[in-house]
Amino acid sequence: MGPEAFLPVALIIGYLFGSIPFGLILTKLAGTQDLRSIGSGNIGATNVLRTGRKGLAAGTLLGDALKGTAAVIISGYLGGPNAEMIAGLGAFLGHLFPVWLKFRGGKGVAVYIGILIGLFWPGAIFFCLVWLATAFAFRYSSVAALVASVLTPIVLWAFGHTALAALFALLTLLLIYMHRENIRRLQAGTEGKIGAKK
Ligand code: G3P
Repeated sequence: MGPEAFLPVALIIGYLFGSIPFGLILTKLAGTQDLRSIGSGNIGATNVLRTGRKGLAAGTLLGDALKGTAAVIISGYLGGPNAEMIAGLGAFLGHLFPVWLKFRGGKGVAVYIGILIGLFWPGAIFFCLVWLATAFAFRYSSVAALVASVLTPIVLWAFGHTALAALFALLTLLLIYMHRENIRRLQAGTEGKIGAKK
C-alpha cells in the first residue's frame, strides 16, 4: 500500500485509539460515582479528580494522552509523516466523538498533549508549561487548557512548523468548541476550580 492510500487507514487507526475513554473505564473498574453525574459531567481527568481519586485522575491523563501518542507513532511507522499527522487528527476526533459513547466524548486536552508528544515533543513541553503556569495562577483547568491550546499553534508557526501549526490550529478550534459550556460558566462565575468537588 502506497503512502497516500494508507492515509484513510491512519485516520481509522487514530480514531480507534482516540475513542478509548480511559476516564470512564478506570472509574468503572474502581467502582466510583458515574463521571457523567458529577462535576462537569465530562469524562476527562479534571472531572475524574472530582471523585477524589487522584491516582485515577493521573491514570486518565496518562491513558488519554498516550493513546494519541501511540496512534501517531504506529501510523508514522506504517505510513510516514503524513500518516502520523492524519492519525493525530483521527485520535482527536475519536476522543471527542467516540462511536461507543453515542459520539459524546471528552474535551480533548490530554489527547492534544499526547498527539503533540508523538508529532513534536518540545511542543508538548511548551503546552504543559503554559498549562501549569495558567492553572497555578487561576486554578481553572479549562482556562489553562484554552490558553495553552491557543498559544501552541502560534508558537509552532513562529518556529516555522507550518504544517503542524495548521493541524494544531484545527485541533484548538475543536477544543474551544468543546469547552463552550466551561466558557459560559467562566462568564457566569460558576466554573469549578481544580480539585473542587463541583
Ligand atoms: O480537560 C478538560 C478541562 O479543560 C475541563 O474539564 O471537567 O472542568 O469541564 P471540566
